[in-house]
Amino acid sequence: MRNVSVAIDGPAAAGKSTVAKLVAEIKGYTYIDTGAMYRAFTLYCLEKGVDCQDHDKCIALIPEVNIELKPGHIVLLNGRDVSKEIRQTNVSGNVSYIASYKEIRLFLVDQQRKMAESCSVIMDGRDIGTYVLPNADVKIYQIASVKTRAIRRYEENIQKGIPCTYEEIEEDVKKRDYIDSHRDFAPLRQAEDAIPLDTSFMSIEEVVNAIIEIIDMKLKERENKNA
Ligand code: DC
Repeated sequence: MRNVSVAIDGPAAAGKSTVAKLVAEIKGYTYIDTGAMYRAFTLYCLEKGVDCQDHDKCIALIPEVNIELKPGHIVLLNGRDVSKEIRQTNVSGNVSYIASYKEIRLFLVDQQRKMAESCSVIMDGRDIGTYVLPNADVKIYQIASVKTRAIRRYEENIQKGIPCTYEEIEEDVKKRDYIDSHRDFAPLRQAEDAIPLDTSFMSIEEVVNAIIEIIDMKLKERENKNA
C-alpha cells in the first residue's frame, strides 16, 4: 500500500503537536515535528551568541548544523539531545526570525521531504500543506483563539517545569502569529484544499477523533478514485 501523508498546519500553540502525536500512535504513522527543527536551529544560534535577527550571521551557520528527529520525540542537535531546551522561552521568542530565512527553510524542508518519502507520516508546521507536501493526502488547518492557545501553552510549560508567565506567553503567541504569517517565503496560511478545524472549544480527544475521521474519509475517497 502507498504511504500516507497528513499535513497539519496552524498558528503557534494551536495544539497541533499534541494531537498529531496521538493520531500518529493510533494510525501507526511517523510523527514529524517540523517546528522542533526550527527551534533546534534557533538554539544553535543562541548558543553561538549570534543575534537571531541577523540574517547573514544565522545562515552562515547552516553547514555546522545537523538536526535529527528520533523515535520518542527526541530532537538531536549535532548529536546532543535538546528536546527540552528547545521549548525554553528564549528559543520560542526568537524562532520566528530563524524560520523567516529562506536559506534555513530550504535546508530544513529538504530533510522534511526526505523523511516523508520513506514512510507514512503526520507532519505538523506552518507550511506543510502549502509548500513542504503540497500533494499530501490529508490537509488540516488547526486553529484556536489567541487566549485558548496562550492558556494551553502556559499550562504545558508549567507542567514541563519551564519557567514563564501567562502574559509573556500571550505576547509570544501574538508576535509569532504576526511574523509567521507575514514572512515572504512560505508564510503561515491555509492551503486551498485544507480542512479548517477550530479547536477552541474542543477537548484533545474530540480533536483526535475529528482528525481520524477526516483521514479515514480522505483515504476512502482516494481508494474510490483509484478503483
Ligand atoms: O510549532 P512550533 O511552535 O514548535 O514552531 C516554532 C516556530 O517555527 C514557529 O513560530 C514558526 C516556525 N515554523 C515554521 O515556520 N514552519 C514550520 N513548518 C514549522 C514551524
